[in-house]
Amino acid sequence: MRPRALRARIFLDGGDPAGTRRVQAALGFLDGQTTNPTLMAKSPLAAAKLAEGGRFTPSEVMDFYRQVAREMAGLIPEGSVSIEVPADRDTSAEEMIGQGRSLFAWIPNAHVKLPITRAGLEAAKALVAQGVRVNMTLCFTQEQAAAVYAATAGAGPGQVFISPFIGRLDDRGENGLDLIAGIARMYAGGDGHVALLAASVRGQGHFLGSLALGADIVTAPESVLLDWAEKGLPLPGPEYACESSDLRPIAFLDIPLARRPEEYDISSDLTDQGLERFASDWNALIAR
Ligand code: E4P
Repeated sequence: MRPRALRARIFLDGGDPAGTRRVQAALGFLDGQTTNPTLMAKSPLAAAKLAEGGRFTPSEVMDFYRQVAREMAGLIPEGSVSIEVPADRDTSAEEMIGQGRSLFAWIPNAHVKLPITRAGLEAAKALVAQGVRVNMTLCFTQEQAAAVYAATAGAGPGQVFISPFIGRLDDRGENGLDLIAGIARMYAGGDGHVALLAASVRGQGHFLGSLALGADIVTAPESVLLDWAEKGLPLPGPEYACESSDLRPIAFLDIPLARRPEEYDISSDLTDQGLERFASDWNALIAR
């Protein structure tokens, strides 16, 4: 059962509908699901195919992704399912717009994931104007979050998510939860049109820390959600602080939200590396 005092929405981060069922059974509720190319490559059908040395054709791989997304959407009809546009550094805004429209039509409750690149922001602006829901992914800086806010100005309630990646910042010694805190504080001065979705959650500390910092949505892997269920679905108190003494703090930046999107510096080596990894995991599924 959903804890009464829980304000955030809880999503599962995974590529296997069997995991969706297990988490729903353990929690007694689930508000949505996020997928990405790496998670899809690990999904049992794809993983088995890869292990046997098999590959999909380009159209088969999209059929496979669509089938998985449809199964998830059927399991969480009232929730949101994030489907990621397969993109790399060279994917143009026009390509992302075309792919985004097509992914959005797969299921009634889709959010289309786009990377925070210049092309991704341009695509987000166009897609939002067409009524498409988007989830802006691979966010590693507060300035990127400001650019997403500006690019999607005028979006409707619930139409835009931003996914800052906590674990990948921790992996290189920076306190990823500070980015959640910084974006939440910056967005508090805005109109609320972008929902803060804490992603790359690696354990209870990230999960409870994100809830304590006021994330609108937290997406977490099955292992983290099952562990939370086993502990009795505890919520963090006002004093909750995730142990982070060995991580470098990320300072809050006083960034105005009122600039044009192109005025923000959205560069991040972690976004570049993340795009490369997603593209390589996705391309490994496809026979060329
Ligand atoms: C979810 O939307 C993200 O793609 C995911 O949380 C990334 O997690 P990872 O950094 O553990 O790969």
